[in-house]
Amino acid sequence: MDKTEATANISDAQDNLARVLVLEMVRVTEAAAIAASKLIGRGDEKAADAAAVEAMRAALNKLYINGTVVIGEGERDEAPMLYIGEEVGLRTAKAPKIDIALDPLEGTTITAKAGPNALAVLAIAEKGNLLNAPDVYMQKLAIGPGYPEGLIDLDASATDNVKALAKAKGTGPENIIVSVLDRPRHASVISELRALGCGIMLIPDGDVAGVIATTDPDTNVDMYMGSGGAPEGVLAAAALRCVGGQFQGRLLFRNDDERGRARRWGIEDLDRVYHLNDLAKGDCIFAATGVTDGSLLKGVKRLRDGRLTTETVVMRASSGTVRWVKGEHGLDSSV
Ligand code: FBP
Repeated sequence: MDKTEATANISDAQDNLARVLVLEMVRVTEAAAIAASKLIGRGDEKAADAAAVEAMRAALNKLYINGTVVIGEGERDEAPMLYIGEEVGLRTAKAPKIDIALDPLEGTTITAKAGPNALAVLAIAEKGNLLNAPDVYMQKLAIGPGYPEGLIDLDASATDNVKALAKAKGTGPENIIVSVLDRPRHASVISELRALGCGIMLIPDGDVAGVIATTDPDTNVDMYMGSGGAPEGVLAAAALRCVGGQFQGRLLFRNDDERGRARRWGIEDLDRVYHLNDLAKGDCIFAATGVTDGSLLKGVKRLRDGRLTTETVVMRASSGTVRWVKGEHGLDSSV
């Protein structure tokens, strides 16, 4: 057993989710972000995504983990790499068994257009602790930390949720800012929010960053509302488990094929409202590296000498520790 494996095992004995993995996750999201950054603004979403996927997979396969992708690039027949169920890591006998939710490039269109808030992101937890969400839409509602539990309700109207939040904040709805994905399907919720007089931050893509923005006072965003990808919902929930906040989500199905997918992943109650602990239980680690500049992180930058800089946030639910990691990478760095 070499030193790295020994360290992982000692940590594993003391700590169910090995602490050493926190910094390893930084390497993994850095690698994906750097690979994707080479395709920023090139108008090729698929190439950017493929570069991030390949780099993230290579980085995961260097780690002393018995990892299983539970949220990934799609089902096995759809995705050649990082498909749901793919086993990653060095998979030695004593390496910790972990489940991984990942999105090597959250914001493929953003990256292709050089827009804001593209991230390389993943969350890990002990086996069985992340919801195996099918790739369908999820209705989402989120607020940041510091409010009484149960303040928001996915079944209540947008108006009632904003009023409840405004009251808890000691202000009126006109001082609340709600982040919503800019999509035609959100037209009615947007007009309801406009009628209330609150501010709406319309985001072009990237609702993992959209949800996390509610936890950061610098963004001025108070609430996230609307539907986006269910896998992104699990990733965002893992982040909120670490920094606090409230999240509710419900899977949305457009047809029987999508309902069938959910049943295949063991989901029986298709109308269930998921709270944070239903999406990411126990200890978990969340890491994200900026690909393009955004509200959460700066994107990958190329210095004049060709070296690259990255910005990553990595957090852990059990300790509540949040680390901001600035990386500077050599010309031929494999991170
Ligand atoms: P991709 O990186 O897969 O393009 O996802 C970007 C995203 O904006 C997610 O953040 C969001 O959950 C989802 O797409 C919304 O889906 P749609 O674009 O179909 O509204």
